[in-house]
Amino acid sequence: MSAERRIVALGNDALVLRGLERLASERGAAVLAADAPREDADTWVVVVDLARADALELAAQRRDRWPGAFLAAFLGSPDRARWEAALGAGYDLVASRGSLARELGRALDTWTGPRIARRLRAVTVDDVAGRLGVVARLDDPGSGPIAVYHVGGTLYAAGDACPHAGATLSEGALDGAVVTCPLHGSQFDVRSGERLRGPADLPVPTYRVAVEGGVAFIEIDAP
Ligand code: FES
Repeated sequence: MSAERRIVALGNDALVLRGLERLASERGAAVLAADAPREDADTWVVVVDLARADALELAAQRRDRWPGAFLAAFLGSPDRARWEAALGAGYDLVASRGSLARELGRALDTWTGPRIARRLRAVTVDDVAGRLGVVARLDDPGSGPIAVYHVGGTLYAAGDACPHAGATLSEGALDGAVVTCPLHGSQFDVRSGERLRGPADLPVPTYRVAVEGGVAFIEIDAP
């Protein structure tokens, strides 16, 4: 077995470890069960037991500790709040202990490298099913204000500060997917961020919206 690809399991859940061993042997990797986290730039996957008190903190430290790793967490019993908190903290996958290895294998098949820095909980999909237009406004310390729009049955997230002079775009009129800045009339497509009319001369940033378990999260990429 090659130790080039390392799966580090923080926690000693026997069922999870068995599943990880199986996955590792299929992928030419090795499992390292550890009690305490340590920095390791070559780690391929880190699996964290969400029962650990420092589980959310570990996600925030990923860039320093395991810059290239896929970060997965598991729950021993259903806990919706903890599950959402873990996704929000930036785990790439959160699963029950029984399904972790299977879901991890599936996720690794399409994973191309660390991308998501964090997720912001935006809305519950059921709550906005019958509402169109602006359905949420959030403020992300790293990215600034973000508005969530429900257009044509799909949720879109776009920067909410007008690049011209900073007005709150989502307070302007929305026509289909086009928002008009309430201050000087610049227009943007909220699906792509494209600037359609000045005086602004830049687009607005857009963000992926991922729906998991009926909750829409805005995904902020790592810089
Ligand atoms: S602030 Fe939006 S167009 Fe001027």
